[in-house]
Order: sequence, then structure tokens, then C-alpha cells
Amino acid sequence: MKFIHISDLHLYTKGYTFVDLLYPKRFVGWLNYIFRRKCKFVDSIDKLNMIEEFVVANNVDGVVFSGDLTCLGSRGEFERAKAFIERLFKRVKYTALIPGNHDYYINKSIYNSVFGDMTNSDNFIKNDLCDVVKFSDNVYVIILNSVKPNPITPVSSGKVSTSQIDSLKKLIDELLKGDNKVFVCSHYGLRKPDGSIDSYTHGIVNQKELEDVVSDRDMFFLHGHIHYTYKYELGKLKCYGAGGTTFLDREAFWLFECYDEVEASIVKYMDGEYVCG
Ligand SMILES: [Fe+2]
Ligand SMILES: [Fe+2]
Repeated sequence: MKFIHISDLHLYTKGYTFVDLLYPKRFVGWLNYIFRRKCKFVDSIDKLNMIEEFVVANNVDGVVFSGDLTCLGSRGEFERAKAFIERLFKRVKYTALIPGNHDYYINKSIYNSVFGDMTNSDNFIKNDLCDVVKFSDNVYVIILNSVKPNPITPVSSGKVSTSQIDSLKKLIDELLKGDNKVFVCSHYGLRKPDGSIDSYTHGIVNQKELEDVVSDRDMFFLHGHIHYTYKYELGKLKCYGAGGTTFLDREAFWLFECYDEVEASIVKYMDGEYVCG
């Protein structure tokens, strides 16, 4: 089977209400978007259509999305994002969707009410446990919720709860017993493109705790948040960031082909389409 890993679409809508922007966090985020980010994600919808074309043309079986569908997490953005993501997900058999920090910009309630029916189970969304999505007889995606609301404006950090860390350990031990290919999906990554650990205000505050559980295990770690598409290894653990999926001049995502071995290929945007290469 083969699946793609995409992330960080940051779909924007002009439909903000005055009330939306009353939250200081959102207002600062809106200024940031208008003056810095907008030009980087301006064609996200066109690119999402091209990702859909890639999925159809290459008979892709699954999509993993690792968060940041929206920009400021407003209801208008969620509804727009949902229309596109639903259409993309209808093209494949297997899907895994997690929120990013922008989707929990103020609180969890909007994400849960709009995407609750698309998230893989109540365990993940209501009980704060990580969960497993079976993509084939021996391909499993463990979804991890590493985001938390950050009402204070300069902070965009994540945290993996103790309950999820505990359930992650058990799931990894159980799934790695057989000949399984195991992918852990989180919005926040473990390392930056230069191999260093992200800052306390932008990365996972308990990064070491998570890294200790997953590093040197013979499996894969998929994430977004850092707006580059890159890979790195932590012992036997192979890590893939897809945060550059639609980011201007860095557009790329990952294609995983899972047969006897797992082969990962980067898919880059060139001349108006996404191509393997
Ligand atoms: Fe992002
Ligand atoms: Fe993010």
C-alpha cells in the first residue's frame, strides 16, 4: 500500500468577525498572517487541488495529515478547510488526521465540533489518548495529540500528555512485536532541519520525554509544524517533517510505499504540479 504525508496548509479565509479578532492571540496572529505568512501560503488551495491530482494519478491508498489546516482557527477557516480535506479524503481508503497548534488557537472546541467526525476515534479527541489507525495488515499509524491551546501571544509550544506517553509506550511495544511497519504521527517534531531541538516556546515542552520513548525504535515518526520538508534519523527511528507541503518555494511532501520494506520518496512541486523526485 502507499500513502502520502502532508501538513501545514494554513488555509485562510477573509471571513473573520470582529469577535474573532477580539482574542489578543488571534489579533496578533492575524497581523502576523497579513504581514508575513500570507504571501507564503497564498496558493494553498490551488496546491491542495494538485495534491488531489497526484493522489488520483498515482493510485495512492492513504493520506496522513499532521496538523495546521487553518491559520487562526476561526469557524470560517475550519469550514473551508473541511470542504477541501473531505474531498481529498474521499479519494483514498485510509486517512489519519490530527490538529496543529493553529487549529487549537484559542481552544479545542471549534476543532472538535468541525472535525470530530473525521478524527479517527473518540479515544483521541475526547479521552486524550493516542490511537491507532490500521492502514493494512501490517501498516499502522499511531496518532498523537501534541498540541495545546496557547492563549499567550508569543508562545506556540506543544505538550504530549502523560496519558498519551503511557499509551504510546504500550502501543509501540505491542505493534513492534510482529513484522509491522509502525508510523507515529504528531504535529510537533523532535528536531529542526539542522538537528537541534526546537525552542521551549515553539517546540514540545516535554520533548525529551517523547524522544526517549520513540528514539532508536525501528519505526517512523511523521510531523509538521516546522515549515520545511526534511528527514533525519534518531538511531533506528526515521523521522519525516512535511511542514513545507504548500509553503512558497519549499513545496514538498512525502510518499511512503510499504511493501516488504518501506520506501520514502519526496514529492516536489514543479511547474504547476507535484512530482516524485
Ligand atoms: Fe504550521
Ligand atoms: Fe504548527
